[in-house]
Amino acid sequence: MSLRVKVISNQPAGEGVYLLELEPHELGRGAMPGQFVMLKPAPGRDPLLARPFSIHGVTENSLSVLYKIIGRGTALLSGFSAGDIVEAWGPLGTGYNLDYRKPLLLAGGMGIASLAFAASYLQENGVDPESIYGAATVRDLVEGYYDSDGRYFISGAPWQIITEDGTYGETGLITGGLDEKLAGIDGVLACGPLPMLKAVAQVCAEKQVPLDASLEAPMACGLGACLGCAVPASQGGYLRVCKEGPVVDAGKVDWERV
Ligand code: FES
Repeated sequence: MSLRVKVISNQPAGEGVYLLELEPHELGRGAMPGQFVMLKPAPGRDPLLARPFSIHGVTENSLSVLYKIIGRGTALLSGFSAGDIVEAWGPLGTGYNLDYRKPLLLAGGMGIASLAFAASYLQENGVDPESIYGAATVRDLVEGYYDSDGRYFISGAPWQIITEDGTYGETGLITGGLDEKLAGIDGVLACGPLPMLKAVAQVCAEKQVPLDASLEAPMACGLGACLGCAVPASQGGYLRVCKEGPVVDAGKVDWERV
């Protein structure tokens, strides 16, 4: 059932990126890192379908999502301001495995949206993850998380930054030297573009380190009913990204056919 939730704020957080805070009502209750909410930015039929948004954080009084303008729906959403009403339902889907004791978090681009929540949850529960955030260039890093020394903090802990063009942090790809970074790691949580996830899945499989990969797919219902979000499974058949995912055990995905 959809709820009508109030916008608390909707602030720019980078190039084409916004941080939306919503009054949660039931929306944030029990939300876990890796889960998502469906938001329908305009009342009525335009745009017709709701869209999935990773949960970026939850407090007693708010639920936040971090999103990039990629189409008409998100462009409309960027025009919302405090007091406006959004149609929403959730929390939905399967989130990250948060039982690892030495996890590595790999956020590529907007993958930081869900992994920042995972990082803060782990820290609150006494686990100090290794956290790496990769982007094409410094302009793609989400704003608002630098401390006075220019270090990049999110969720209260430093993230190692890698940019492809070397404009901030190390130069290279987030997947560079990954096999060495897996030493002592008992599980990887990854969210980012598909080529990155495929590369991470390959290295984790070779090193026999469990990987929780957060997948993206077009979603219509978000409830497991329409099969619009299905991806090929390694054992045959399909996984519904909205139900069995968005976070899946990477070994269950047929990465060749995704
Ligand atoms: S979006 Fe309908 S089944 Fe996943």
